[in-house]
Amino acid sequence: MFKLKELINYSPPIILFYGEKKKLDRDMRSIVKQTGSHIRYVTIDTDTSCYYHLLSGIVAGLGGDAESVQVASQWQSAVLQADHRSAGYGKETSSYRRIWNETFAKEAALIFLQFIKKTSVKQPAVVLLDRFEEIDYSFQRLLEKYLAPILSDVKNFKLILFYEGNSKPSWKTYDFDRYTHPISRVNRNLKNFVNPYIAGRPVRIKGGKKSSPIFVGRKPAIDFFIERLMQSDSPPLMGMRGERRIGKTSLLMNMECYISDDYLPILIDLQMIESPERTENGVADLIEKFGFEIAQRLRYHYHLEIQEPKKEEFRKNPAQVFSHFLNDIVSQIGDKKLLLLFDEFDRVEDWVIKGLLQLDFLPIFKKLILNNRGIVGIVSYTNRLTDLREEKSYWREFLSDIDAFHLTTFDEDAALELIQQPVDGVIDYSEEALDAILAYSGQHPYFIQLICWILVNRGHRISRSNLTEKDVALAAQEAIIRGEAQLNFMYETACKPKEREVIKKVVFSTESHKESYPVERLDKSLSGAVESLISRGILRKEHPNIFFRIGLIDLWVRKNFTAF
Ligand SMILES: Nc1ncnc2c1ncn2[C@@H]1O[C@H](COP(=O)(O)OP(=O)(O)O)[C@@H](O)[C@H]1O
Ligand SMILES: [Mg+2]
Repeated sequence: MFKLKELINYSPPIILFYGEKKKLDRDMRSIVKQTGSHIRYVTIDTDTSCYYHLLSGIVAGLGGDAESVQVASQWQSAVLQADHRSAGYGKETSSYRRIWNETFAKEAALIFLQFIKKTSVKQPAVVLLDRFEEIDYSFQRLLEKYLAPILSDVKNFKLILFYEGNSKPSWKTYDFDRYTHPISRVNRNLKNFVNPYIAGRPVRIKGGKKSSPIFVGRKPAIDFFIERLMQSDSPPLMGMRGERRIGKTSLLMNMECYISDDYLPILIDLQMIESPERTENGVADLIEKFGFEIAQRLRYHYHLEIQEPKKEEFRKNPAQVFSHFLNDIVSQIGDKKLLLLFDEFDRVEDWVIKGLLQLDFLPIFKKLILNNRGIVGIVSYTNRLTDLREEKSYWREFLSDIDAFHLTTFDEDAALELIQQPVDGVIDYSEEALDAILAYSGQHPYFIQLICWILVNRGHRISRSNLTEKDVALAAQEAIIRGEAQLNFMYETACKPKEREVIKKVVFSTESHKESYPVERLDKSLSGAVESLISRGILRKEHPNIFFRIGLIDLWVRKNFTAF
């Protein structure tokens, strides 16, 4: 919680709080409590208020003397008169009222200043104003234009506005920002705040918890798997495909938080398993390694002592021995089921290409899972394998009856949750800053975490908790250096030459990722490449234009290449 003293001494004269109603109420109660006996406060319900109502309300609330109260009531009657006079002016009404209002507003502000100076010399005054979102727009402008500047001269007076809404209201045009201070539970928190973001390593929900603010947005995928696990007749081998760093490993690691206790999940990362060594019988070798991994995990995670078969036995008839081994496990875990999660299944293709693994591995593997009623499996792989279906029949066959979930970037809600939730009450992003993070990251999990990680560090460094679009632009510059490996992979490895040609064309024909490019300007021969970039989430189409979905890619290409 903020300290009222700090607020009074260091913040601008008008402080804007915005957020959820519940939180605002809590903050307001805390301010009221802190104001205690030595600081006075007024709460004004702004239902029907205008500028003058507010001023006169404050005057009365702060215990204005007879003279001030009289002045205040004059303001009100003047307003009523003005309304009356402007009636019948037809279309002119609003502009007439505006001019009149502004002349009068300035005058009222000066009178108000006199009053405030008189009142708050001895004691600081805090005015709380609730439901600011319901106040008339022109009022906000008058406040900004006339009241805020004069209040900067008054030391002991603060006007605190409460605005219910999840995003910052946009009063940009009148530079309201200069006088406001969005949610002021500030720096003090930031100082001891540990950067919560993880960019690169898989995100794991820590011990025993069921959720984490830095693991978001995977409900559709989780529902997909849970639904299928619950159907008794569904195939016991499922798939999950998605590009590198989209969040496959993170999801597999956290599966145990979401599925019922009837399953014992075991993660087998093919990236961590050594390649099969004996080239003449890679299948036996690999299956043996799986057996070893599974036995280890059961011991470590579930304290189940399972004897793994001896090497010599494995060599004689690996499939049969492995099958016995699995049966052994299933009989030990009673009516629970083993959920085997195979991560980085692409490795199988690498081993096949290198001649370390024979092609019969795939059907043998599948059969082992399918033939055991106590076992369910999920294999995770990138789109590279799905693309290979065209040219390699063994992948076509293997993947043909696997029901797979396609993991993609976050929807906007999940992205905003990841940007705001972990830093709630510590860092505040302006509306423009939020938009900029969405645009640079393309709502891609890794890029959001990377940019936010940099932004939290930046907040620390500059001791500022309100971060703006400018801060995000600077963070993006750093992100393309820290995220070099991923960006390089996405552009150089994952893109075909024609796709790179399209990317360069768009980058070097525009000023920034915010600008669109008319698709008909591209050569017809590139239309396939455009479609593929769109389907992979790199470009976005809004007919007849294309845009970058992930602004960082644009920025990185702009930095590292020249036009042609
Ligand atoms: N559900 C998620 N919520 C928040 N961030 C995520 C999530 N999934 C992935 N990330 C981010 O993406 C990065 C890569 O995730 P990872 O699971 O390793 O992807 P993959 O296995 O697909 O390569 C993580 O370091 C993290 O920054
Ligand atoms: Mg992974």
